[in-house]
Amino acid sequence: MMAQQATILGGHSRLIVLLFIIVLHFVTCSCKSEAEILLKFKESLKDNGALSNWNNAKPPCNGDNEKWVGILCENGTVWGVKLENMGLGGVIDVDALKELTNLRTISLMNNNFDGSLPNITKLGALKSIYLSGNQFSGGIPANVFDGMLSLKKIYLARNKFSGEIPQSLITLPRLRELMLQDNEFDGEIPQFHDGMLILFNVSDNELIGEIPYGLSHMNASSFSGNKDLCGSPLESCAPAKLSVGTIIVVGILVTLAVAALITVVIILSWRKQTPEQEQATASIPNNRKAFSTDLDKMEQGTASPVKSTNSKKGDNNVKLTFLQDDREKFNMGDLLRASAEILGSGIFGSTYKAALNAGKAMVVKRFRHMNNVGKEEFHEHMRRLGRLNHQNVLPIVAFYYRKEEKLLVSDYMENISLTVHLHGNTSRGHPCQDWPTRLNIIKGVAKGLLYLYNELPSLVAPHGHLKSSNVLLDGSFNPLLTDYGLVPVVNQDQAQEHMIAYKSPEYKNNGRITKKTDVWSLGMLILETMTGKFPSSFLQQGKGNDADLASWVETVVKEGNDDMDQVFDKNMGGKEKSEGEMMKLLQIGLNCCEAEVDKRWDIKEAVERIEQVKEKDNDQEYNSTGFV
Ligand SMILES: *[C@@H]1O[C@H](CO)[C@@H](O)[C@H](O)[C@H]1NC(C)=O
Ligand SMILES: *[C@@H]1O[C@H](CO)[C@@H](O)[C@H](O)[C@H]1NC(C)=O
Ligand SMILES: *[C@@H]1O[C@H](CO)[C@@H](O)[C@H](O)[C@H]1NC(C)=O
Ligand SMILES: *[C@@H]1O[C@H](CO)[C@@H](O)[C@H](O)[C@H]1NC(C)=O
Repeated sequence: MMAQQATILGGHSRLIVLLFIIVLHFVTCSCKSEAEILLKFKESLKDNGALSNWNNAKPPCNGDNEKWVGILCENGTVWGVKLENMGLGGVIDVDALKELTNLRTISLMNNNFDGSLPNITKLGALKSIYLSGNQFSGGIPANVFDGMLSLKKIYLARNKFSGEIPQSLITLPRLRELMLQDNEFDGEIPQFHDGMLILFNVSDNELIGEIPYGLSHMNASSFSGNKDLCGSPLESCAPAKLSVGTIIVVGILVTLAVAALITVVIILSWRKQTPEQEQATASIPNNRKAFSTDLDKMEQGTASPVKSTNSKKGDNNVKLTFLQDDREKFNMGDLLRASAEILGSGIFGSTYKAALNAGKAMVVKRFRHMNNVGKEEFHEHMRRLGRLNHQNVLPIVAFYYRKEEKLLVSDYMENISLTVHLHGNTSRGHPCQDWPTRLNIIKGVAKGLLYLYNELPSLVAPHGHLKSSNVLLDGSFNPLLTDYGLVPVVNQDQAQEHMIAYKSPEYKNNGRITKKTDVWSLGMLILETMTGKFPSSFLQQGKGNDADLASWVETVVKEGNDDMDQVFDKNMGGKEKSEGEMMKLLQIGLNCCEAEVDKRWDIKEAVERIEQVKEKDNDQEYNSTGFV
């Protein structure tokens, strides 16, 4: 159009138009060259004599070769800035660096930079940052590493940073190397989880408290020279010092405890002669450690659980706490007799099937990362969950508490889980499910979820871990939700890494879960049930969800109905009489998966819509709405 105008206007005006286009280019285009950006960055530095060859004579990169000192190049673009031992000081112009779109690593080690840590949140794509050996000081905001999902290496050693080690570090999915030695950090070390870090050093700070379990395999020299750190690999934490008053109180308590113990021993020896065994105390022989070891052996397939240890009558009993009054009581020994079998091993621990003497099968789930709350609070939370009563919510029958692990006991469900029937091997006798069964399952799940919302209003995500393997199916394929309400007790780092709520778009984008997060999980479950496909984003831990199930379904739906065969699971059938209703449910699934929380339905609306879906398309209804 410009060209057309120019011919009409003639030669003189053509020049004006050309000038206009050039001006427009400068106004609208922020495409500064890398040289311009780097020169702006250099301007803010003090004592930058070492950067004398940074000038406009040639661009910083030529292919993979760097033409400027301290620049790392690939394919003619800057991917790294490495300015070490150059006596540099002044301000680090993060806003300039931000414009280097391919920048992945930055090192300013061993210079004279001071003041607070620059706002590196703005450099969201960085993979490594090296600022060791400067004079940086002051606290680091807790959230400064939020959203830096690519960050692998952080070197801040030999500075004067103070305050607490930022909590946002434990949310970084790719972090492997963290060097913070020789600073003035105080407080406790954040709960880094097991296997996350490969290199780690916080020696010579002012840290206190117990070293997190996830770091206990590190070299002891990584923790030396702190104020008061304890626990593996250092010495174990001593009990707190006691005042005289406390000693007296403890003395009295110990006396009482001894008296109580003697009474218990007397009662127990009396009970031994009585046949009935209705007490809830498990008579697992040996001590608690041996009990764990039995489970461990089972996991390794060297099981012959309990039987082997049955011979010795032990003294440390394993106490199961029952949450349902109307249930037959049993003990851990009853549960773990020879018929125990491993059902699967999840991210938090393993699941066993165990049969009671009467033949009734129970499921024992073992959780290892549940130390977010203390013993009292844990008991209280379990009692709260134990009070729940709904046909689509699987009750927790009993639990066992130990600091290092928890066991939750519930009934065994004959048809195992929705996962098995959606993705299991049909030739192994798992009947594939038809449309009416699937619809019934989704309706039951929705009801159960709404019940959890009503009964657990204080939880942000009342379920928190809704996925097909946590939708159990009874003998009539009615769904029962399990693993609900655990977000408050699971260790935060584990929750963030593994629980479905933390795979939601809102957690990825804003680091927050909301009251609508379980609705998103419900949407994913609907899509999984209708397509028979695994939501790939669950499987690719930590990766972006580019191959996300919701976007795939959405694309196909948008492209028109011709492709719908490709979306619906072929085993589901029902196309002739129910395709309209099937489409309705699919669309509900998509709406629940809406990435923008504001636009997403709340639980009430989602459940109402699901309730309206019918088993068969109804001709009359279509006519009346003008559909035909
Ligand atoms: C550089 O180019 C090669 C070949 O085209 C490509 O494989 C590589 O990924 C590119 N690297 C970057 C950082 O773009
Ligand atoms: C740092 O940058 C981020 C992202 O641009 C911004 O949200 C945040 O407010 C900044 N923090 C400070 C302390 O300036
Ligand atoms: C611990 O680190 C020190 C110093 O880096 C090294 O000499 C020592 O061998 C390491 N010990 C272990 C058990 O890795
Ligand atoms: C940790 O840093 C201290 C102090 O620089 C050093 O002596 C120690 O060897 C380091 N340990 C490891 C494992 O890097």
